[in-house]
Amino acid sequence: MYALKRTFFIVMSSLGIIVMLAGCQQTRYPVDHEQLSGEERLVIRFSHVVGEDTPKGLAARRFASLMKERSDGYIEVQVFPNSMLYKDGEEMEALSDNDIQMIAPATSKVTSIVPEWSVMDLPFAFDSYEEVHAYIKGKTGQELISKLDQQGLVMLGMWDNGFKQLTNRDFPINEPTDIKGLNMRIMPSDIIEQQFNLFGASAVKLDFDNVFQSLDEGLIDAQENTMSNITSKSLHYRQEYMTVSNHGYLGYVLLMNKEFWEDLPDEVRSLIEETLSEVSEWQQEIAHKLNDQELSKLEECNCIEITHLSDEEKQQWEEAFSPVYDFYRGRFGAKNINSLPKIKGGNKE
Ligand code: SIN
Repeated sequence: MYALKRTFFIVMSSLGIIVMLAGCQQTRYPVDHEQLSGEERLVIRFSHVVGEDTPKGLAARRFASLMKERSDGYIEVQVFPNSMLYKDGEEMEALSDNDIQMIAPATSKVTSIVPEWSVMDLPFAFDSYEEVHAYIKGKTGQELISKLDQQGLVMLGMWDNGFKQLTNRDFPINEPTDIKGLNMRIMPSDIIEQQFNLFGASAVKLDFDNVFQSLDEGLIDAQENTMSNITSKSLHYRQEYMTVSNHGYLGYVLLMNKEFWEDLPDEVRSLIEETLSEVSEWQQEIAHKLNDQELSKLEECNCIEITHLSDEEKQQWEEAFSPVYDFYRGRFGAKNINSLPKIKGGNKE
């Protein structure tokens, strides 16, 4: 009788251990992802307009690969670079329609839905990346983010590209008045338009995708962009002169379709947030390095004549552009401008 009881106990204990082990092997996500079909995986389509080896392109890929690794392949972020899926003017609508779930447009481009974001385009508004990030974390930044939310868009973070420089085909630009008469490509932002119209240039709002060809065909003479955007699209091969002016910030808002976001399980949302926060830190470092590196390359290539504005000249440019601030105040009041670090004399809100 004792032997029978003992055998029963051993069998039951072994079964218990097997069940426990099976439980331990369970991951937080469905296992054996390679066997999952497209419908069973959670697919996030992330579309953007720049090259893969740019600050945004590199970060998007890193985000995709970390999400795959950390969800055991359950979450698949499909990255579509270089406007291959949607162009500048199309991606916002595609996001709202949930045809794609994630984009990272330049702040200047979200002005089409929340025009107040154009505060970020004001000339010489920020002197450093730290100032930009403190502003976005502060009260005004949070209000701007909630305006995106009201449009059905969740902002999950901010990525840097860099500060913009001016390039042009015909002559060196030393003073703001030198831009008179130029056809200047800009991103779609009324503030940027004002900035160039103020000195008699014609500001032409064009998709990023079309800049090289338009320079090539002579439809535009000049443009403003960050170093990594200039070199990754070979724009410098169609321009003779560059002015290192650092006159405006170009960075990205990471946007997700709000309905899609809210339908995600809490666990998935947390994983996305944690991963994005880590990738964003990495992204910012890469962006700053890449822009410095690309400037050094152009300084050595003898392929474009480069003018660096001195601090004194920058100060003159800044004063010359001050009417653009009045334009913004006229449309949106003084609040967002008053909390800019240069106006407040500090970067805390
Ligand atoms: C981008 O960096 O996403 C493109 C910027 C531009 O349109 O100039």
